[in-house]
Amino acid sequence: MQMKDIIEKKRDGGILCREEIEFFIEGYTGGEIPDYQASALLMAIFFQGLNRQETFYLTDAMKRSGDVADLSDIPGIKVDKHSTGGVGDKTTLIVAPICASEGVPVAKMSGRGLGFTGGTVDKMESIPGFRTSLEKEEFRKAVEEAGMCVIGQSAHIAAADKKLYALRDVTATVDNIGLITSSIMSKKLASGSDAIVLDVKCGSGAFMKKLEDAETLAEWMVDIGKQSGKKMAAFITDMEQPLGCGVGNTIEVQEAIDTLKGRGPEDITELSVKLAGYMIYIGEGADSYEHGIEKARDAMESGRALKQFRKFVKAQGGNPDITEDYGLFPQAEYSVPVLCENSGYVTALCAETVGKASQLSGAGREKKEDSVDLAAGIILKKKVGDSAEKGDFLAEVFSNSREKAEEAAELLGQAFSIGTEKPEKRTVVYKIVE
Ligand code: URA
Repeated sequence: MQMKDIIEKKRDGGILCREEIEFFIEGYTGGEIPDYQASALLMAIFFQGLNRQETFYLTDAMKRSGDVADLSDIPGIKVDKHSTGGVGDKTTLIVAPICASEGVPVAKMSGRGLGFTGGTVDKMESIPGFRTSLEKEEFRKAVEEAGMCVIGQSAHIAAADKKLYALRDVTATVDNIGLITSSIMSKKLASGSDAIVLDVKCGSGAFMKKLEDAETLAEWMVDIGKQSGKKMAAFITDMEQPLGCGVGNTIEVQEAIDTLKGRGPEDITELSVKLAGYMIYIGEGADSYEHGIEKARDAMESGRALKQFRKFVKAQGGNPDITEDYGLFPQAEYSVPVLCENSGYVTALCAETVGKASQLSGAGREKKEDSVDLAAGIILKKKVGDSAEKGDFLAEVFSNSREKAEEAAELLGQAFSIGTEKPEKRTVVYKIVE
C-alpha cells in the first residue's frame, strides 16, 4: 500500500477502506509517514469529507494507536462526560461528585485550557496539593475507592490524535466534522468508561456556532460511540454567553463548590442537575431521566454531593478544607471593575470575548507551553436579561498583574451589549440526542 495512492483516492472523492485508514494511522504514529503526506491527506479529507463508516474506522484506528484503559474490574457502569469546550464550563466538578454520591462511578480524563476555552485540569490544580497526574493503577484505585477520579489526559491515550491534532492546528484542517468526531471520540473510547454523556456547546463561545452543525456533530459522535459498544447521549447546550458567573481557574472551582452547596448561578445549576441526572440514568442509578434529575437534585440539597467532592479532593492529594475556607486558594493581587456606561438591560454577552479577556488576565494560555495564573479570571456581575444602571459593576477582573487586569477589563467591556428592551431569557439545554 502506498500513502500517495491513498491521498490521490481521497483527493478524487473516493471512499477509504478500513485497511487504508489503518495504514495511514499506524504509519503516521510510527513516524514512517511524514507530515507533508499526512497534511495532504488531511486537506483532501477537509474538502472531500469522510462518511460515517470512514469516520468510525478512523476513530477506531486512532483509539488503538495508544493505551486503552481497562476499568472492567471496577463494579458498576462507569460513566464519562465530555464537553466540546466553552467559557465558564465547570460542570465536571459538579456532576462527577453528584453521580458518585449516587453510586455511579465516574472515571474521567480531562484536558487543559487552550486559547479562550478553559480546561478542567488547570482548574483542579488551583486546589492546593491536588494531583492531576496519576499512574494507571492509582487512577483505577481512586475510582474504586472514592467513586470518582479526574486526571489529565495521558500522552499515551490516542497517541495518533496528539500528533494529528497539532498538525491540523497549523494546516487549517481542524474544522471538519469527521476529523473532529474521530479526534474527540478516539480519546473518549480509549479512556475505558462504559457510558459517555457529551455536552456539545453551541454559540459564539463554542466550536460549533450554529445549531445544525452542533446537531450533526452530536449525532455523529453518538453514532460512533454506539457502534463501539458504549451507551451514549449528547446534550446540545447554549454557549452564546458564558456558563455561570465565574471564568478562570480558582474562580470556577469556587463557583462549582457554591453550586454543590445549592447557591450557584441558575444556568450552571440547571445544566449540572440535567447532565448529572442523565449520567445517573445511563449509569443505571435511576430508571428514567426524570428520576435521575430528582436524585441529582437531592444529592445537592442534602449535602451528599459536597461530601463526595471533599472525598474526591482528599483522594487526589488536595486539601478538602477549601470547601469551607476559600482563603486557602491562590489569591489575586489586583482587581479591576468593568462599569456600566449607559443604563439598560444586558442584551448580549459574547462568550468568546469573555473567554479572550479571561485569557488576557492570565487565566488562560496562548501556547501549550505557557503557564497560567491560577488566581486570575473574571466574575460576571450581570448576565443576559439583567438590568444595569450607569456606574454599576458589570464584571470584575482578577489578576496578579495590574497591567494584564487592566488590559483584560478593557476587552471585557466590549463583550457586553446594553439595550433598552429586556431580552428573552436564554435556553440552557436545546436538545438531547440519544
Ligand atoms: N476537540 C478535540 O479534542 N478535537 C477536535 O478536533 C476538536 C475539539
